[in-house]
Amino acid sequence: MGRNKNAVIITASPRKNSGSKKAALFFAETAGLNPELIDINRVFARPCIACGRCADVFRCFQKDGVQGVIDKIKKASPVIIASPVYFTGVPGPLKIFIDRNQPVWEEYMKKKGGKKGARKKRGIIILTAENAAKKHFLPAERELRSLFAVHGIKTEAVIRISGAEKEGVACGRSVARRLEKAAGLRGKRPRGAG
Ligand SMILES: Cc1cc2nc3c(=O)[nH]c(=O)nc-3n(C[C@H](O)[C@H](O)[C@H](O)COP(=O)(O)O)c2cc1C
Repeated sequence: MGRNKNAVIITASPRKNSGSKKAALFFAETAGLNPELIDINRVFARPCIACGRCADVFRCFQKDGVQGVIDKIKKASPVIIASPVYFTGVPGPLKIFIDRNQPVWEEYMKKKGGKKGARKKRGIIILTAENAAKKHFLPAERELRSLFAVHGIKTEAVIRISGAEKEGVACGRSVARRLEKAAGLRGKRPRGAG
């Protein structure tokens, strides 16, 4: 992927020895990225109150840490989101952050009519769960794909890692191989890879 100062990793696990974070760091290192790390649990974020005001101004009136992260996503590529699966979805703090992207959705609908258009920015989704069944990952995956879409980010890879309940075990050999492949080290290199 080439060394890229604009890469951002957003992590969502509250655990110190998080498997999803480990996997994201391994991916970034393998891809030769130099990402900024954002722990969404440390971003002060109030929930969306569905007031609708952002429909006109494309900004939320609430003053907290959310807009700063949105601005970083707007400038970044690739954007890597690494999250554990909770009740098949994403953990609360990440969900609160996703909902607060409603101003970005409003702008996307107004300017592009919701059409995909050319997505030049790249996104990687890394999800960890205990269960291996795909259905355990899908709601979280859909939410994150939807977040990427409104930001004009193409989801380039989704890496689902199971058996991750025990702290820090998410990066065995077969997982590492999948992360390496997504990073462009094995097999087909992703588009735009340097
Ligand atoms: C509140 C909560 C809900 C969870 N729900 C699921 C689930 O629906 N399916 C599943 O396979 N694992 C579930 N798990 C297990 C976590 O996904 C697993 O511990 C996590 O992926 C580990 O990633 P981390 O080390 O990055 O935190 C849940 C864990 C917690 C704490």
